[in-house]
Amino acid sequence: MSKKILILPGDGVGPEIVAEAEKVLAALRGDFGLDVATEHALIGGAATDAKGAPLPADTLALAREADAILMGAVGGPKWDDIERELRPERGLLAIRSALGLFANLRPAILYPQLASASALKPEVVAGLDIMIVRELTGGIYFGAPRGIEGEPGERRGYNTLVYSEPEVERIGRLAFDIAGKRDGRLTSVDKANVLEVSELWRETMTTLAEDYPGVELSHMYVDNAAMQLVRAPKQFDVVVTGNMFGDILSDCAAMLTGSIGMLPSASLDERAKGLYEPVHGSAPDIAGQGKANPLATILSLAMLLRYTLAEADLADRVQAAVGKVLDEGLRTPDIHTDGTRVAGTSEMGDAVVAALHAAA
Ligand code: IPM
Ligand code: MG
Repeated sequence: MSKKILILPGDGVGPEIVAEAEKVLAALRGDFGLDVATEHALIGGAATDAKGAPLPADTLALAREADAILMGAVGGPKWDDIERELRPERGLLAIRSALGLFANLRPAILYPQLASASALKPEVVAGLDIMIVRELTGGIYFGAPRGIEGEPGERRGYNTLVYSEPEVERIGRLAFDIAGKRDGRLTSVDKANVLEVSELWRETMTTLAEDYPGVELSHMYVDNAAMQLVRAPKQFDVVVTGNMFGDILSDCAAMLTGSIGMLPSASLDERAKGLYEPVHGSAPDIAGQGKANPLATILSLAMLLRYTLAEADLADRVQAAVGKVLDEGLRTPDIHTDGTRVAGTSEMGDAVVAALHAAA
């Protein structure tokens, strides 16, 4: 039976970049016999506009039925001032939570062709290959109580940063497994010098380490981790951390690679069902102009092939096709440097498809 992929273009540049990933998907069906069926649905601001909710019930129902979900991005200034529950970001948080997508994998890999696009010196980032494993359905994003209360002028806003041992253990085991298949080094990032929740996180990770003798576990405070990421990023192999620290550190790691426009992500449940999306946002400032970099979304499709569909060969082919396009010197404006050629969103997607065909 063919696997079902739900496509959620979202807002801003979302529809443009997802369209390029769909071209790649079509090529995989045509050239390589990939057996998948796709459906489309609304999420984010587009869904709020059309259906009055950022995650409409029919979208969630389709998402539950699907084997995997490919998403563009959500959000934009148009929805900044509406009621909190209707904001586009709420749709994304709600689908992560409803589907139990607790494990967010954010690889930061530097393509050698882009070493000069990084803000860091080429020798500091050359060969960079980090995997950030971010807990995605707990922590301060979802902790209760939360709210804003009190009289105007005296109001208090509050959120709760909470992790249970089972939650830490679940993400911890996945991170140890990933590290075991890579260079065998895992850095757990916390703020255990200040926060009780981090103290428990650290203890739980330390206990887990006994089950993974092949992996070397170290701990790092989050402020130091932010500094080390820009000082000497190659010291990291796999980083595991909570929801908010992971949100912040993954943007930082993304920029090491030259552009956040290159980085894919996977958000997985316990059975490798996943939602795949670029790490970057909806970039409303360039939406509709054909300038957005579709490569993060195309690489997210490669992660979908690898993790949910277990099509490692096709995933490798898509990644190789992206490498070839970069070798050819094609660059969207975000990664453009002297001596390379500026390409638009769809030209970039077409070039990846051509590279796939050529290697078929
Ligand atoms: C991300 C984004 C989201 C997050 C927003 C859009 C809710 O920044 O995926 O990193 O904070 O998780
Ligand atoms: Mg973020």
